[in-house]
Amino acid sequence: MRPGSLRSSYGPWAVVAGASEGLGAAFVRRLAADGLNVVAIARREEPLRALAAQVAAEHGVEVRAVALDLARSDLPEALAVAVEGLEVGLGIYNAAASFVAPLLARPPADVQQVVDVNVRGPLHFVHALAPAMVARGRGGLVLMSSLAGNQGSPRLAAYAASKAFTTSLGESLWAELRPEGVDVVTCCAGAIRTPGYAKALTKDAPGTLDPDDVAQAALGALGHGPLVTPGATNRLATVIMRRVLPRRAAIAIMGRSLAGLEPE
Ligand SMILES: NC(=O)c1ccc[n+]([C@@H]2O[C@H](COP(=O)([O-])OP(=O)(O)OC[C@H]3O[C@@H](n4cnc5c(N)ncnc54)[C@H](OP(=O)(O)O)[C@@H]3O)[C@@H](O)[C@H]2O)c1
Repeated sequence: MRPGSLRSSYGPWAVVAGASEGLGAAFVRRLAADGLNVVAIARREEPLRALAAQVAAEHGVEVRAVALDLARSDLPEALAVAVEGLEVGLGIYNAAASFVAPLLARPPADVQQVVDVNVRGPLHFVHALAPAMVARGRGGLVLMSSLAGNQGSPRLAAYAASKAFTTSLGESLWAELRPEGVDVVTCCAGAIRTPGYAKALTKDAPGTLDPDDVAQAALGALGHGPLVTPGATNRLATVIMRRVLPRRAAIAIMGRSLAGLEPE
């Protein structure tokens, strides 16, 4: 990626949903380093404000911290307020809700949270940002998905299903919005060293990447096709799981690897 290329293609403003830590914060830093102003959204105001102040001072851009629960019922209105008056050329939906447990071991409210943040959230996010991009004939959208959505993933059923939705949504939007001048990429990531992942994990899974590398790969893939999977190990695993193994073997492998994750 040439320095400044994100700003010239997708500036002047970007919105990162799920920005207070981990991969979301890495997206904010990378965008700001490239000269974009950023609206950074998450629930916790304190880490958001600290990140916004630090990144703005370091890169001389404006970073707005917006404390917002993406599961709230009036999300469309809240997003409209967050971006009012701004020319937003890039939107990144990074936030996700998940739990590690058999589906029936958790109350329906937990599943609802996964659906609200991972399914309803990106749909409203796209509706909030994409129409203005289409009207301008330029823009970009990054949706964060996961290898977990490529096959059944026991003990991660709701999350995996939500990520299958994300991948399909992103690929469809790639085709729908490309003729309108809007680049859409879905980042189908393997394990990333984020605070959220570290809570469930005792050691790195094979192919685990740092948030900065995933952010760079996702942004660098904008305009180069519908899907990116960062990391050679993760790309190889995708080929094996999707094209080589029978479906039931792929599900069994996911089940074994998820058996090592701590329930929340
Ligand atoms: N980590 C991995 O190994 C991995 C692997 C494959 C794919 N991914 C995908 O990569 C993305 C980021 O990974 P991550 O989950 O590990 O997280 P992360 O980037 O470390 O952080 C998630 C962010 O989302 C925010 N968030 C969560 N729920 C929210 C809500 N209801 N409203 C507003 N903000 C919310 C969190 O902030 P607050 O708590 O302050 O709200 C946090 O800033 C996700 O889409 C995930 O599915 C991750």
